[in-house]
Amino acid sequence: EKGNYRHYMQKEIFEQPTVVAQTLSSYIRPLEQTVALPQMDFDLAGVKRITIVACGTSYYAGMVAKYWFETFARVPVDIDVASEFRYRDPVLEEGGLALFISQSGETADTLAALRHCKEHGQTIAVVVNVPTSSMAREADLLLPTHAGPEIGVASTKAFTCQLAVLAALAAHLALVKGKLSAEQEREIVRHLIEAPAALNAALAHDEDIAAMAHLIAPARDVLYLGRGPDYPLAMEGALKLKEISYIHAEGYASGEMKHGPIALIDEAVPVIVLAPSGPLFEKTVSNMQEVRARGGKVVLISDAEGIEEAGEGCLATIEMPSVHPLIAPLVYAVPVQLLAYHVACAKGTDVDQPRNLAKSVTVE
Ligand code: M6R
Repeated sequence: EKGNYRHYMQKEIFEQPTVVAQTLSSYIRPLEQTVALPQMDFDLAGVKRITIVACGTSYYAGMVAKYWFETFARVPVDIDVASEFRYRDPVLEEGGLALFISQSGETADTLAALRHCKEHGQTIAVVVNVPTSSMAREADLLLPTHAGPEIGVASTKAFTCQLAVLAALAAHLALVKGKLSAEQEREIVRHLIEAPAALNAALAHDEDIAAMAHLIAPARDVLYLGRGPDYPLAMEGALKLKEISYIHAEGYASGEMKHGPIALIDEAVPVIVLAPSGPLFEKTVSNMQEVRARGGKVVLISDAEGIEEAGEGCLATIEMPSVHPLIAPLVYAVPVQLLAYHVACAKGTDVDQPRNLAKSVTVE
């Protein structure tokens, strides 16, 4: 079943262009260049606040979506991990929309949070990969991802498919809220259609990334930095690395470095910086210089423009295609997945069945 791949995780990483295209085909009409969502029997335009709840990688997809819902649709978003949310007695106003994100649709804490929200009068939307799952059955609005079965314990293709659905949902919400013109909608759809090709371009760096794995494999700690939507990507990159290579890794908002974590920096701590060029680029670069000034070794993941401007003096650079900010999180997921994968291979760990982890966490 793994075909020519060594591991399911590797196969699933490489399936992303296909499964993202497959997922998007249910959410966009390419000829009309419009977003198409399933029928809803509630008034999406009337939604005043969205509560997002999920765990692990699905939670990071939700964090990216928070930026999108707020920027495009101007709808405030509250987001929490399910294990905290369900016990903190959250304030849920009547008529709110609660959005749950899950690959399996069976994660115990997320499911309990969903039921809690249902009891408190929330409309339940779910982004889920298993259409027969408990969460799928209990949803008012079911937004399936079409990633196909994900076998590797470390989630990869489910994540990028979740982002694809969430981007379409953000665009649709913006449209019904009157924050997006028909022309802007078409533009967004055009960018979404480009996502699979951009994912392929990112995957083309597989060998370069494999060749740099030995630079990271000996590390005891690795930091990942990003700003804006790249901040959750930094946390996702760190989660992937710790899950499968057992190297301690943390994702930080770049601007938080000088509030503590910079104390950890020395020659032995690689710092992976996720920074597409754009309005936040300069700020991340200055955080990167602070790291370098303390002997830190930087791996910069950026586009040609970013690498041209700031790549000098880095331990390594990984060049991503230049893409619209809306699809950048999908594209930047690929190098952090590949890096974790190759580092784990270099260390000889069990990539598909990492120790202590279960694919689906059905007990709390
Ligand atoms: O099935 P779910 O998306 O609800 O699972 C959530 C997490 O358990 C999951 O994303 C976990 O963090 C993965 N092992 C991450 O690679």
